[in-house]
Amino acid sequence: MRTQVVIVGAGPSGLLLGQLLHKAGVDAIIVERQSPDYVLGRIRAGVLEQVTLDVLAQAGVDERLNKEGLVHTGFDLLFKGQRHRIDLSALTHGKKVMVYGQTEVTRDLMSARQAAGLTTFYEAADVHIHGFDSAKPSVTFTKDGQQQTVHCDFIAGCDGFHGVCRASVPKSSIQEFERVYPFGWLGVLSDTRPVHEELIYVNSTRGFALCSQRSHSRSRYYLQVPLTDKVEDWSDEAFWTELRNRLDPAAREQLVTGASIEKSIAPLRSFVAEPMRFGTLFLAGDAAHIVPPTGAKGLNLAATDVKYLSDALVEACVEKSRAGIDHYSERCLARIWRAERFSWWFTSLMHRFPDQGEIGQKFQEAELDYLIHSESGSRTIAENYVGLPLNFGE
Ligand code: APR
Ligand code: PHB
Repeated sequence: MRTQVVIVGAGPSGLLLGQLLHKAGVDAIIVERQSPDYVLGRIRAGVLEQVTLDVLAQAGVDERLNKEGLVHTGFDLLFKGQRHRIDLSALTHGKKVMVYGQTEVTRDLMSARQAAGLTTFYEAADVHIHGFDSAKPSVTFTKDGQQQTVHCDFIAGCDGFHGVCRASVPKSSIQEFERVYPFGWLGVLSDTRPVHEELIYVNSTRGFALCSQRSHSRSRYYLQVPLTDKVEDWSDEAFWTELRNRLDPAAREQLVTGASIEKSIAPLRSFVAEPMRFGTLFLAGDAAHIVPPTGAKGLNLAATDVKYLSDALVEACVEKSRAGIDHYSERCLARIWRAERFSWWFTSLMHRFPDQGEIGQKFQEAELDYLIHSESGSRTIAENYVGLPLNFGE
């Protein structure tokens, strides 16, 4: 088999890249290790920046999003038992975010790919990439017991943190930066009315909590928990009790509880691999970087990597210009480090660290107090949260 681009991984990054390339007339095949149902079973954040909405519109997958997504113009910060609104729109000349689950973004991308009749090999085993230090790379895998080889011009490594692409790069050619946080997030999804119309990020002496949502009738809540906790240790009852304990009295009263429809614990990590291009191999999304979820930047960063990568690949395949591919890594990394910094900072500000002590709590509360009372402080949070413009710093 032959195609112009082999995309490894059919998560949001791979599917979005496939769609953008298709729109520009570049052929691509996607090779994915899991089944479509497995891919759709992963629950992740759901806050989309305007830049991401623009890329999804370019990909032609914004119809349901525009109908069902919830526009949010602010969120609450809760600390010392009191809530304070960060007015995103007032602080950023009218910008806003859209609350729409990553699962739904993935579903829309899958449907668009299927409707366009594009080739995806799901449940591909033993995926390997070859010759990416040359102009003739290829990808091999086994599907239904048959060994397949796809020859191509470029390989896009969109295969997530545990994928094969980054792992195939010689150790001497790549540098990895990593911090693992000493706690996790216990998440619960429930078909209950959200406690508040906007998100609430909570700093409490008992640890961080987040009240989020998927729709007017589906809530998503998180609690900071020790890494030693197991999800089986947390009954629904225990979860709701602890969440209530971290909320302010008004929210506590508003909270509607119900059976969880999903419950899981995720570790928190900051990670960046540099560079993101190796000859004819390009990494994008979680294959190249991970942010802790506090700033909701994961999917948004993946979307901008993919935007830069599709532009670069189209330039290379259609216009025969190398400018885009030569600048890909540098362009992505400038944006990635800004989002990494914001996610690390917001995580550090909102969570209880094992060694922070009472003085650490006081420092966090004083910083939060400063941020909500200073217009420049609030603006700093707001402009990072809604997402920096694509050309920021250029
Ligand atoms: N071969 C083929 N596919 C693979 C392989 C492999 N060896 N290894 C992993 N994959 C697939 C995974 O099964 C998964 O479907 O690659 C896909 C990677 O998807 P994601 O992990 O969702 O990564 P990405 O598409 O970059 O999405 C980034 O996900 O984690 C969130 O916050 C993050 O929202 C961001 C988004
Ligand atoms: C979510 O809804 O899952 C969510 C929202 C905001 C975050 C993280 C997760 O910062």
